[in-house]
Amino acid sequence: MPTTLPQSNLPGLQLIHRGKVRDVYALDDDRLLMVATDRLSAFDVVLPNPIPGKGEMLTQISNFWFDKTAHLLPNHLLDVPLADVLPPGTDLALYEKRAVVTRRLKPVPVEAIARGYLIGSGWKDYRATGSLCGIQLPAGLQQAQQLPAPIFTPSTKAAVGDHDENVSYDVVVNAVGKELADKVRDATLAIYQWAAAYAAERGIIIADTKFEFGTDANGTLYVMDEMLTPDSSRFWPAEEYRVGISPPSYDKQFVRDYLETQDWNKTAPGPVIPDEVIARTAAKYAEALQRLAGIQLS
Ligand SMILES: Nc1ncnc2c1ncn2[C@@H]1O[C@H](COP(=O)(O)OP(=O)(O)OP(=O)(O)O)[C@@H](O)[C@H]1O
Ligand SMILES: [Mg+2]
Repeated sequence: MPTTLPQSNLPGLQLIHRGKVRDVYALDDDRLLMVATDRLSAFDVVLPNPIPGKGEMLTQISNFWFDKTAHLLPNHLLDVPLADVLPPGTDLALYEKRAVVTRRLKPVPVEAIARGYLIGSGWKDYRATGSLCGIQLPAGLQQAQQLPAPIFTPSTKAAVGDHDENVSYDVVVNAVGKELADKVRDATLAIYQWAAAYAAERGIIIADTKFEFGTDANGTLYVMDEMLTPDSSRFWPAEEYRVGISPPSYDKQFVRDYLETQDWNKTAPGPVIPDEVIARTAAKYAEALQRLAGIQLS
């Protein structure tokens, strides 16, 4: 059975960040403990009820991809047993599949997005300007169409409650310097291309995905945060893909459909989601894990 954990509770550890999904603790100057909870957000609002096991599935899918892509770029994971770092008396079963010990890195202040298909804010910007993040694209592309080649479309990490904004490559170069910007772009595209090919063989299109990177004290670049999860990526079942329409989101479709029926202004607090919708959403996360990583958690 998956465990359910809407919020971590680790007395004695220093909580440094509670995001929409992850709780992050500092173990020391060089290491973090990251706990993926079962919180679900929609339209950037954390909804009242958790998705049982979601955090476990997110962590397992990230760990799978970190391992698979380690030949392309080193990642933040450290091979430290959780039992060594959790406070005495912690229920290990609640944390073992959802928590990881990582290097504590200096974040590169950019959301590194790779897109293979024209959808979401990419489609919106293209329709308005014919380009995306300053990259001129061919005329006449349709919604959800595959791009001639994957592109790097960075965005700035917005403050809580704001939406991220697509920026041109020059903005990234100005922020972090050309050498680091080039490394981030090249790693983003290399990891995306490798993973997209892997997923395609398993009937899943990775339309786009977001990576985060960080550097250590020596300036070495690592990929960090989460990797190629349903929360950071658009996964489309290949069998439902059609050019010209927006394919349903892999995981949040049931929740979004339900929310559309509610009189809700998309600010906190969000409505309570019925059990049936929660169960179907959990099943989608489990399906992604199974189809991509071949892992069954329960
Ligand atoms: N190895 C790492 N070193 C330092 N910071 C990291 C590392 N890995 C991830 N992070 C940071 O930890 C946080 C993870 O929390 P989480 O993703 O839940 O919240 P968020 O990114 O602030 O908000 P959200 O993802 O909900 O928009 C992020 O701020 C991320 O940049
Ligand atoms: Mg995040």
